[in-house]
Amino acid sequence: MFETLKKAPVDKIFALLGEYRADDRPQKLDLGIGVYKDATGNTPVMRAVTKAEKRIFDAQTTKSYVGVSGNRGFCDTIVDLVFADRIEGDRITSVQAPGGTGSLWVIMQLLKRAKPGATVWISDPSWPNHYPMLELAGLNPQYYPYFDPETRSVKFDEMLAALDKMGPNDIVLLHACCHNPTGANLTPEQWDQVAQSMKRTGAFPFLDLAYLGFGDGLEADAYGVRKMAQTCPELMVAFSASKNFGLYRERTGVVIGVAANKDSANIVFSQLANVIRASFSQSPDHGAEIVRVIMDDPELRAQWEDELKEMRDQVLTLRKNLAGSLRKLSNSDEFDFVEQHRGMFSLLGLSKDAVEKLKKQHGIYLIDDSRANIAGIPEHDTDKLAAAILDVGK
Ligand SMILES: Cc1ncc(COP(=O)(O)O)c(C=O)c1O
Repeated sequence: MFETLKKAPVDKIFALLGEYRADDRPQKLDLGIGVYKDATGNTPVMRAVTKAEKRIFDAQTTKSYVGVSGNRGFCDTIVDLVFADRIEGDRITSVQAPGGTGSLWVIMQLLKRAKPGATVWISDPSWPNHYPMLELAGLNPQYYPYFDPETRSVKFDEMLAALDKMGPNDIVLLHACCHNPTGANLTPEQWDQVAQSMKRTGAFPFLDLAYLGFGDGLEADAYGVRKMAQTCPELMVAFSASKNFGLYRERTGVVIGVAANKDSANIVFSQLANVIRASFSQSPDHGAEIVRVIMDDPELRAQWEDELKEMRDQVLTLRKNLAGSLRKLSNSDEFDFVEQHRGMFSLLGLSKDAVEKLKKQHGIYLIDDSRANIAGIPEHDTDKLAAAILDVGK
């Protein structure tokens, strides 16, 4: 059996993490993997999460099955968080899935049933897992223009021109906020135009919402997904609680479907449940129950929002400091985009060669496309990091 198999390529983010762990230089710095780190370099368990876990530990009397569609209180509270009554409730349906990745996967299975072999357009570049997941799901991934490496911002005219040419057989995967890997995002006015274009062409919106609250706040970051749902008759959203609740390893996510009406939403729900039953039967409950407990208790919810703000502010401060260090040491505004970007990442625009030098000569680990996890930079180290970036050149 196995003689027919070849060794599969390793995921470059996890391969880089392995190299980093094997490096024994004390000054090494991991800006590869996308996790938030506090000022001490730790990825903390949020205080609201620990409190909720204690409550669950004391109150839970069974570990029996929850059900195919998952923890309903969790799904409902996330739907409220994302849409906050901005669209009619009976157009919405939801099921729990294992993290953002599991949610994306379940949606892809649904899309394959609805339109076998359909083209799914992803941004150029996109989160490295989008393309292989779509291929594995039997869909047809293609890129739409997105990032301009010269200006390090969205080449919106080209993006919109590509969207305007699409039709009802096209599916467009959009990062709802905090674009990964580039850090460059659509403005509210640009979201308005994207929504109008997709309404006009009938292309289907598929939103990846992995960083709600990490960019400019819970309300501001929800602008795009709300606008799309208000404008277009149907869409799907993959929500992840990995970053904003710090629940990475608990695999906590929600698939949200928005349909034209209640009957259609019911059909979507039945298909999602059917996909889940035939794939992994149901999702792990622990992370979902933590989120439900937090969101149902006003005090815990307020604490979670404060902690999320702390993380967001920390990333914004790091952006400001790194851009400041680069401005000071290079005597130019070339890297000011670092301060304008939002979310955990920025694509720095360095060559593969420069990224390799950063690793070899300075012990600084970035993905080879030069994506830097801004949330992984130690606060006092922005001068040192800036000097290393300028030392290796582009
Ligand atoms: C754009 C994007 N989508 C989805 C995910 C998946 O998140 P999860 O860890 O919840 O599967 C990530 C995580 O890095 C991401 O950056």
